[in-house]
Amino acid sequence: MYDFWSGLLLGDGSYQGNPFQKHKWLAIDSAHFTRWLSLFKATVEECYEGDKADEAMARASTIADVFQNKMGLKKP
Ligand code: HEM
Repeated sequence: MYDFWSGLLLGDGSYQGNPFQKHKWLAIDSAHFTRWLSLFKATVEECYEGDKADEAMARASTIADVFQNKMGLKKP
């Protein structure tokens, strides 16, 4: 998880995995993604501020959309 976010935000290329593969079998729907995003954003805002914090929240939202699209889930 550390590697994933540092790779995305700092471009250090440390993450070599495929996150979607880890999620595609989970029994989750769009409500879970909405809740996940809400908790993620609250945590980022509590701990960080600035451009990288904003970028983390924006990227999380985009990736959550991509996951949902690939899983055939309808966005709320
Ligand atoms: C309802 C939403 C989500 C649930 C329930 C969920 C659940 C999980 C679970 C259970 C794992 C562990 C999988 C394993 O090791 O077998 C995992 C890993 C991970 N998740 Fe999520 N996740 C959610 C959303 C997201 C989103 C939106 C992102 C990206 C912005 C994300 C990024 C990751 C990453 C980077 C890993 C580690 C992947 C790896 O080990 O290579 N997750 N998640």
